[in-house]
Amino acid sequence: MKIKLNDNFKNVSESYLFSTINKKVSDYKKINPDAPIIRMGIGDVTLPLPKIVVDAMHNAVSEMGVIDTFKGYPPEWGYSFTKEAVLKYYKNYNVDLSLDDIFISDGAKTDVSNILDILGHNEVYITSPVYPVYIDSNTMNGNSIHILHGNKENRFSPLPVGLDNSAKVIYLCSPNNPTGASYTYNELKLWVEHAVSTGSLIIFDSAYEAFIEDKNIPHSIFEIEGARECAIEIGSLSKSCGFTGVRCGYTIIPANLEINKIWRRREATKFNGVSYVTQRAAEAALSPDGVKACQENIAYYKRNAKALAKCFDELGIFYTGGHNSPYIWLECPDGMKSWDFFDFLLTKANVIGTPGVGFGLEGYFRLTSFNTYENTLEAIERIKKVLGK
Ligand code: MLT
Repeated sequence: MKIKLNDNFKNVSESYLFSTINKKVSDYKKINPDAPIIRMGIGDVTLPLPKIVVDAMHNAVSEMGVIDTFKGYPPEWGYSFTKEAVLKYYKNYNVDLSLDDIFISDGAKTDVSNILDILGHNEVYITSPVYPVYIDSNTMNGNSIHILHGNKENRFSPLPVGLDNSAKVIYLCSPNNPTGASYTYNELKLWVEHAVSTGSLIIFDSAYEAFIEDKNIPHSIFEIEGARECAIEIGSLSKSCGFTGVRCGYTIIPANLEINKIWRRREATKFNGVSYVTQRAAEAALSPDGVKACQENIAYYKRNAKALAKCFDELGIFYTGGHNSPYIWLECPDGMKSWDFFDFLLTKANVIGTPGVGFGLEGYFRLTSFNTYENTLEAIERIKKVLGK
């Protein structure tokens, strides 16, 4: 073929992190078909959807089978009832939104990368370690990326210290994937002040907000004064409501910002909206009873996270997360490299995690709490055994 390709793809790693892990595990399974693998790699939920959500989907499916209630194309920006549900959900955090601020999406991953469609080639600042999609999508777009390093000293929560006054695009994720570290109100305020004073844009990923336990951690960047001038927020029902397989999220772009109009225009051409059945499910999940039911599932995962945290306390291994987060981010023991530790755990304990280097930091490792309690305890036993405790 003689057509031109997007050469930026030459700068992206050949395989997406979680595809590489799947390939390694399936290769291992070919040789060891009976290995009792426990998966704590990709952050994929395991508990079924709450009944209130399933009932809403059943009702919506029935409506689709009747001429009077059948629905064709959904609105590109979401049905009003779903946007109302998001708006009311945000009132729990004293955030006042308008329906025009809200766009219903098929998940956070899509919007967090598609948003680049409406941005020019800005200087992009990304905190690291990081969800690989931010780096990959900006690399695919040929943007110039600056890494803000998270480490033990800054509690994996880099602040806008020493940054110049240029206008930039800043990615923040709190509670963070992969570290579980979370910005406090005061810390997030520093980011908002920096963005407002420099004319920058913050892309705030709140996919894990439903795991927050501490009162000093904001659930939304819009809890911070000034955020409507400088931020957009990408939310997800995947981890909070168990929607990884259903696919629904939302993006909040304050209607006072010019990019709201441009995103609206972009979506009208490139997106046909989220299905009616899914949006009825989302509406149910975000209702007060739905939130209560989803929080029961989250409490289950949190018990797993606490058990993992206790394990690493007992082993004397440094970690973050396990609190306000479904993830445990740990230092690999004995100075091991993260893919070596991945192979070690896979072959010696049949436990799968995610190498820290895949998130941009060598020598670290991520485990998720998205499993059964029994499997989590079994994984802990095996990890203790192979680490000699
Ligand atoms: C993760 O494991 O980091 C997430 O499940 C990935 C995602 O949300 O796309």
